[in-house]
Amino acid sequence: MRRIGVVTSGADCPGLNAAIRAVARKSFDLGYEVIGVRNGWHGLIHDDVFVMEKSHVSGILYLGGSILGSGKDDPFSSEADFASFQANFKKYQLTSIVVIGGFTSLRIASRLNDAGYATVGIPATIDNDVMGTEQTIGFDTAANFVCESLDRLHSTASSHHRVMVVEVMGGGAGWIALLGGLGGGADYVVTPEYRPKFDDILHHIENRKSSGKTFSIIVITDTATVDGLPLGECPKTGVGAYLASEIEKRSGIDTRFTVLGHLQRGGTPTFFDRTLATRYGYEAVELLRRGDVGKMVALKGGLIVPADMDQATRERRKPEAKLFEYAKLFY
Ligand code: F6P
Repeated sequence: MRRIGVVTSGADCPGLNAAIRAVARKSFDLGYEVIGVRNGWHGLIHDDVFVMEKSHVSGILYLGGSILGSGKDDPFSSEADFASFQANFKKYQLTSIVVIGGFTSLRIASRLNDAGYATVGIPATIDNDVMGTEQTIGFDTAANFVCESLDRLHSTASSHHRVMVVEVMGGGAGWIALLGGLGGGADYVVTPEYRPKFDDILHHIENRKSSGKTFSIIVITDTATVDGLPLGECPKTGVGAYLASEIEKRSGIDTRFTVLGHLQRGGTPTFFDRTLATRYGYEAVELLRRGDVGKMVALKGGLIVPADMDQATRERRKPEAKLFEYAKLFY
């Protein structure tokens, strides 16, 4: 008999429940028992788990968040926590764990696998910054939200002839800003990978104005920096506000800012995220069935394939240069 622990760890994202549902249903189908771990690794460190039944995963496909709860605990953070993790793994007779999470959570999963606790991973984060896969669960929903927000901001920006600065998340990577901005028609995108000069942003806004475009939408990742502005000194989620106030000060154009914040992480997953999560969940249990542990499921060329979890979590995946080229075409 196999007993599989399911953990959603780190920052949550839309689509986690679809993945939990698929992991549980596929496991039940194979006759495995499933143990739900509450609040990320916290549940296995502090003995907070429960036996999952079919009813726990009924009616959750479309729900955002995680029915298990999530959290940022790390079983390697102290010897005592690791000892508790080991004791609970043994107590509940787990044979393996499915970890659903982003870069840091999958890194922990890989280390646990190396330590002898059979683990497979499912990449899930709105940041889309996990190597080895073309897309993580949650990114599509977050980027769609950014896109829709830019649509809404366009209409009010154009009526009032304003500059709108929109601050988005990204966890240190520019995927959400770049692709959300591309889909929503941003007039300038600032990400951690591309550090523009403040004067270039200003000239761009002024050039647009003199060519008859009386508004501009600027998208900036919350961790981005701009040459010529001490953005590094800004408080958390303060970069958009700061950039907006400097633009208004220097250009004299009425400027507003919007922080999309955790709205990007909430809500109902899109069709794409639900189906990606469902396919990932199924294939993660298949990996366990075959004993192919230490791997994560990945999207490659439209197919779900295994990827080495250690390799995938050595550095964060950055958007390719081509995406910046696409964005700049519309500046
Ligand atoms: O990793 C996902 C993410 O939403 C990042 O984009 C963001 O920087 C961070 O988590 C915010 O974390 P918290 O929810 O702890 O504020």
